[in-house]
Amino acid sequence: MVSLTAIKGMNDILPLDMEAWIFFEQNAKLCLKQFGYNEIRTPILEHTEVFVRGIGQVTDIVEKEMYSFNDSLNGENLTLRPEGTASVVRSVIQNHLLYDGGKKLWYMGAMFRHERPQRGRYRQFHQLGIESLGFAHPQADTELVLFAHKLFEKLGIQDKLVLHINSLGNLPERLKHREALIKYFEENVNILDVDSIKRLKTNPLRVLDSKNPDMQSMIENAPSILDFLEQDSLSHFNTIKKLLDGLNIAYKVNHRLVRGLDYYNKTVFEWITEELGAQGTVCGGGRYDPLIEIMGGKSYPAVGLAMGIERILELIKMTSYAKQPKNDVYLIYNGEQTELYSLLLASKLRDFSINVIQHSHIELQQQSLKSQMKKAGASNSNFAIVITDQFILEKRISIKSLISGDEQVFDLENLNNNEQLKLICNYIQKTL
Ligand code: HAM
Repeated sequence: MVSLTAIKGMNDILPLDMEAWIFFEQNAKLCLKQFGYNEIRTPILEHTEVFVRGIGQVTDIVEKEMYSFNDSLNGENLTLRPEGTASVVRSVIQNHLLYDGGKKLWYMGAMFRHERPQRGRYRQFHQLGIESLGFAHPQADTELVLFAHKLFEKLGIQDKLVLHINSLGNLPERLKHREALIKYFEENVNILDVDSIKRLKTNPLRVLDSKNPDMQSMIENAPSILDFLEQDSLSHFNTIKKLLDGLNIAYKVNHRLVRGLDYYNKTVFEWITEELGAQGTVCGGGRYDPLIEIMGGKSYPAVGLAMGIERILELIKMTSYAKQPKNDVYLIYNGEQTELYSLLLASKLRDFSINVIQHSHIELQQQSLKSQMKKAGASNSNFAIVITDQFILEKRISIKSLISGDEQVFDLENLNNNEQLKLICNYIQKTL
């Protein structure tokens, strides 16, 4: 029979990858707590209208990337969430979460976009998102940037990322800029590719986003939105820059940064890396003051971001974290007496908070100590503990560092000798 496979672009997360996921999740949760963000979980499936209204009709996501279907049981049009912001805003309005002031929320989970899969771009991918709702001051935008900066530092990937920032101003400013852009692109229409000519009338801002190498110098000289900002938008943007300077967070003002979703105004930002090829945007976000009203709520300011977890994990794998052993002890044993002894020893070590990998006796009995040592080497552990009938007789155990190769022999009169066990565990823990 033909074996079944997962859907293209939707990947299993296998046990070997899990350590890096947990490393990311634990650091993220710690950091989120330190900043006072609260978790929200919304359904993976929403009415299609949530995303059409939230993200904007003329965006790549809504035009061609959504997994939408008709629920044949009640005729509703539903969509697997392509992002989290529209869902969170829907929930905040529906549950009146802003009645007693602003809220700082986060979510983590799977998103779905029908894109062409390639390295770093999947049809099911995962985001950590944060939405600060009800806060108008540039300090809220800056705090989000600071959060991401701190998390990237904790994860050890900060030096691989460059923060790009821009302001998209407000609607009247954008309309004036749009007019100037259309005029400029029409004057250069012979340089535009087919995609850009299509966007010229629908969403000219997105032409600025084009990666077509033949269009780059023309785009570089296109009218900048920053020249169209008036007092309020300009001072918002300048305050953010001043705060970032004060926090010592490096950034690059990039007037071509437009983002692929329609809900933004004023601030937008992205962290981009050179190390992941074409899919180099690891985190993106910005201010979206008009969205809550567009989604049917009262008018509240808001700002948020989302990071692509798969892309971040790719970067983490390039750091020294990836080379660190993830387990403490791998137990090697061979001999009649070792069957029960190894189970008891593993249990004792775990009582002292040491993580122990032990394979079953039957499986190991047929293997020499040498081939078990090979397994220990591949197990991502710091130490191997070797137990044989002879060692049990001599009341000692041997602990071998799998990093340096050093071997230490410890006395262990019996498994109730907590003093001797403590010495062994201290040795393991101190060297970790
Ligand atoms: P976004 O830029 O569409 O923004 O996505 C955020 C991040 O998700 C991207 O920077 C990227 O790292 C990751 N990502 C997006 N698509 C894929 C994919 N197909 N495969 C792998 N990773 C992907 C948003 O989603 C907004 N909701 C962000 C936001 C929150 N703005 C305000 N609040």
